[in-house]
Amino acid sequence: MEGLYKTDIKEFKLLKRGKVRDIYEIDGNLLIIATDRISAFDRVLKTPIPGKGKILTKISLFWFKHTSDIIENHLITGNFEEFPDKLKKYDVLRDRSILVRKAEVLPYEFIVRGYLAGSLYEKYKKGEITFKRHLSEFDRLPEPLFTPTTKSEVGHDMPISFENMKEELSEDLALYLRDLSFKLYKRGEEIAYKKGITILDTKFEFGKIKDKIILIDEVLTPDSSRYRVWENGKPVKLDKQILRDYLKEEEAKRGTMPDTIPQDIVDKLLNAYKKLQEILLK
Ligand SMILES: Nc1ncnc2c1ncn2[C@@H]1O[C@H](COP(=O)(O)OP(=O)(O)OP(=O)(O)O)[C@@H](O)[C@H]1O
Ligand SMILES: [Mg+2]
Repeated sequence: MEGLYKTDIKEFKLLKRGKVRDIYEIDGNLLIIATDRISAFDRVLKTPIPGKGKILTKISLFWFKHTSDIIENHLITGNFEEFPDKLKKYDVLRDRSILVRKAEVLPYEFIVRGYLAGSLYEKYKKGEITFKRHLSEFDRLPEPLFTPTTKSEVGHDMPISFENMKEELSEDLALYLRDLSFKLYKRGEEIAYKKGITILDTKFEFGKIKDKIILIDEVLTPDSSRYRVWENGKPVKLDKQILRDYLKEEEAKRGTMPDTIPQDIVDKLLNAYKKLQEILLK
């Protein structure tokens, strides 16, 4: 399979080509197409991961369904058969796109961490953060942590303190969004845990439609979350971390990060994403 790297639908207005998704405007709504592009460290790799967009779409739809009692989301439909007739001739959309309500995006990434991993573990090792008792990598935190960042159009997303977020958004709204983020993460964690998988951390995005907050973007996908399955007592990666680790290793060896991905890493990524889909959606 070749993989869909980018779409070029002339009939509709392309609002944005994100790192992974192409977004078109359709009658005031958005058509979000998950391509097979993959990004890491804020850069899009030149190699597609064939079929990844379809897996992400399925997983996101699963989570929209399982969180809709917590908060309303942007989804209109992910079912190609329910798309407006004018979209029906674009078979490329099937199983990898969703029709959503357009929202005013809140410019933050609402990150929740339930386990000691990633940059939180790095901080812990340096003593920049402490807990009541000693924790090892991948241990569950006593309580999930909220570590939001700002969403910047250019360059890196920067961490923002909860105090600053309150100042920018109002105390009530910041508290509400933090509470929602915790509820959504806990719901995801609980459902995944029963299936033998751990969601170490994740990020959500929220938007506003006429002053109402809704959940937007993708939800609890292996692009936006760190997933592990435990095999022989060891955590096996079922997410994008496989790519980040490869890029870091290459950088250490060669001094620069590659912008392509070798076939064995493509296969590894795809197998991990497929495995997650199988376990989660079965
Ligand atoms: N309902 C919505 N209304 C408006 N924008 C949305 C909605 N849902 C998602 N988006 C935006 O669509 C884009 C999704 O594409 P993608 O994730 O590939 O972009 P990205 O490169 O991560 O961009 P960004 O840095 O803005 O997140 C994101 O910018 C996201 O904020
Ligand atoms: Mg994104």
